[in-house]
Amino acid sequence: MVLEALRYRRGSLQILDQLQLPQRSCYQAIRGVRDGQAAIRDMRVRGAPAIALVGCLSLAVELHGGTAGGQDAATVATFVGKALQDLASTRPTARNMAQAAEKLGAAVTHEAQCPGATANSVREIVIQLAEEMLEKDLQDNRRIGELGATCMMRGVAPQGQVTVLTHCNTGALATAGYGTALGVIRALHARGCLEHVYCTETRPYNQGARLTAYELVYEGIPATLIADSAAALALKEKGISAIVVGADRVVANGDTANKVGTYQLAIAAMHHGVPFYVAAPSTSCDLSLATGDQIIIEERPSQELTDINGIRIAAPDIGVWNPAFDVTPHDLITGGIITELGVFAPAELQEGLKQASIRPCH
Ligand code: MRU
Repeated sequence: MVLEALRYRRGSLQILDQLQLPQRSCYQAIRGVRDGQAAIRDMRVRGAPAIALVGCLSLAVELHGGTAGGQDAATVATFVGKALQDLASTRPTARNMAQAAEKLGAAVTHEAQCPGATANSVREIVIQLAEEMLEKDLQDNRRIGELGATCMMRGVAPQGQVTVLTHCNTGALATAGYGTALGVIRALHARGCLEHVYCTETRPYNQGARLTAYELVYEGIPATLIADSAAALALKEKGISAIVVGADRVVANGDTANKVGTYQLAIAAMHHGVPFYVAAPSTSCDLSLATGDQIIIEERPSQELTDINGIRIAAPDIGVWNPAFDVTPHDLITGGIITELGVFAPAELQEGLKQASIRPCH
């Protein structure tokens, strides 16, 4: 069976409750925006693409088959605009939900102004676009996997294999399916080109130990879990050929926000001469920001650092700083930025995305 972060059919959305993994595999019904926002805030679903999909599909479910949002086109458009704004502000570092909000918001405004627009026609636009996003994310991930695997195997002897290190969770659980950085790893494995994967535990929320390790075991991919603090040693001793991570937001100069700990991995990779790749769909790219200094970094509750499974492990009264993400400067992304539109050096990203969106590259 395929691992699914979400199950959607028109009018119904369920998410796999990632707080309960790997112990229990439980799906939870999402009946509308309020449920979607709560699931995203509480990290029952997480990962930049999955956040956007659950946000938009929760709105689609709420708008399906009823009178939600109002009786006329303008009122529904206002309702949708407010819901999208709320969803986009829930986890502000990830670009995808904000990008989707811009796209859906513009389409809804346009529709509401068309002669003959009705409450139902506005609702239908949202539902259709959200469904298209779900389909496209899966296709994009497969393309990222193929492009990334091809790029990583360049220069490797025929029949040769690579050993890869990854951080956080970027797989089926973080996307519509297949995954981004984990999609590259899946594609390498499918081609028989993967010797081994090292996945970091990804403190403090343990997405690596709980989710990536679960996906790798589920897929039968040869893998080893390491503590975040063992990464530099692994680079020195374990024959790691490349690091590949996902992204929450990639800005115009290639600076990339991703799960906290990514930055120190990139520094260690540079020290050891190991290529460092970012794999992300173009929906994670934000060309409106010039550098990573402009990215808002979400800070999470202190309990995610001080407690494990509700049990306090940190000394009482200690102060806590818990940024969920950090920014890796573009010059440390030595392998490239793998998108569904091509693999780009950070300096080429802006132009590459523009060109490729006019003329898809292969
Ligand atoms: O806090 P999370 O679990 O939402 O953070 C997830 C990451 O940082 C991922 O690497 C990123 O969102 C890409 S997921 C394809």
